[in-house]
Amino acid sequence: MPRYAHIIGWGKYVPPNILTNADLAKKVDTTDEWIRERTGIHQRHIASAKETTALLALHAAREAVEVADVNPQDIDLVIVATATPEYLFPATACLVQNALGAERAGAFDLEAGCSGFVYALATATALIRSEMYNTVLVVGAETLSRILDWSDRATCVLFGDGAGAVMVRGSDQPGGILSTILGSDGSGGELLMVPGGGSKHPAGPDTVLSKQHFVKMNGREVYRFATRVMAQAARQAVDKAGWQLDQIDLFLPHQANVRIIDSAAKSLKIPPEKVFVNLERYGNTSAASIPIALCEALDTGKIKPGSNLVMVGFGAGLTWASCAIKWTAPQPGTPAPQRAAVSRLRYIWSGIKSFGFQLSRHIDAAVSKTIDGIERKPSEE
Ligand code: UT7
Repeated sequence: MPRYAHIIGWGKYVPPNILTNADLAKKVDTTDEWIRERTGIHQRHIASAKETTALLALHAAREAVEVADVNPQDIDLVIVATATPEYLFPATACLVQNALGAERAGAFDLEAGCSGFVYALATATALIRSEMYNTVLVVGAETLSRILDWSDRATCVLFGDGAGAVMVRGSDQPGGILSTILGSDGSGGELLMVPGGGSKHPAGPDTVLSKQHFVKMNGREVYRFATRVMAQAARQAVDKAGWQLDQIDLFLPHQANVRIIDSAAKSLKIPPEKVFVNLERYGNTSAASIPIALCEALDTGKIKPGSNLVMVGFGAGLTWASCAIKWTAPQPGTPAPQRAAVSRLRYIWSGIKSFGFQLSRHIDAAVSKTIDGIERKPSEE
């Protein structure tokens, strides 16, 4: 009997701090008008020093666990798609796995730039369909603000921070993630990169002084690439799922530039009401953009059981990835803020449990030491 991979839980988190275009115009030579017209972005969320990629990922993941109503012990694998990991290693996914208490799960990070979330979703789908795993947590999380050159107006106005997560589970029920397409053209690698900090240009005073740890991008070339691959990748996923383009109920593209999205939608003949756009509020959150969009589409009732969804990502690599999903999860009974509150309560409770566990270990060790001491005493005397 064929196995199917269904999304059964979802969650998102964005840092509360907002940076508007007007705020940016005070830092670099730009205007609100330029940013809105050329990109569609009005504002973005920026992580505080304490809000790291793992923390953003964890908030989104907890919400996904809550919505899915899955015991963390039942998670088989955690994949975090990110271009801005907590460390070079260990993987951010391992930090999330540990904090969630997903003790049985394997964990790894996946780096495919802004396509990372769909790459990770495709990986989860393949592992579930092959019956290697049954429950996989997929997270897209980024703190792009940490690797931006805040004096480079060509890049610093585009990106934002955030995280989105989904729980994917195997079932015999037809539907779920029906097709996935992954693509790469490494010849365009230098069009969008962070050159420093890897084996080619290890971190040192020179790489810092020459700003090699910041995002470098040829915006025009990436734009040309994106407008070419977005529609093409969407068509391939639709074909592979056995659908026609007019069967798409909601198109969830990577949120980089509204002009790129409009161009793809026009080429695919998808009307605006079937295209989800929220980049005006978040900017480009890279691997987090599609799962954040998914959560908002669900929260605003744009996705219903039976809806046909198409997701397309593109980005550094250069990479692209798409998938077609027959949505099967029931609409969430509890509104998002309540889910988040429950998720926070669980977080506090797991902290208390962990503290209790540590305390009991200390008491246990102290008691054992005392008993050892008492037992040894007669022979010593
Ligand atoms: O997830 C993948 C990540 N990357 C992308 O998706 C980026 C794709 N590319 C784009 O979205 C667009 O190429 C940009 C938004 C980055 C740039 O828009 P554009 O219409 O391609 O502008 P441009 O690069 O052709 O620049 C036009 C002008 C230039 O001035 P000159 O040379 O014509 O005098 C730029 O220097 O706009 C100037 N410019 C700015 N002006 C005000 C570039 N950035 C800014 C800015 N404010 N922030």
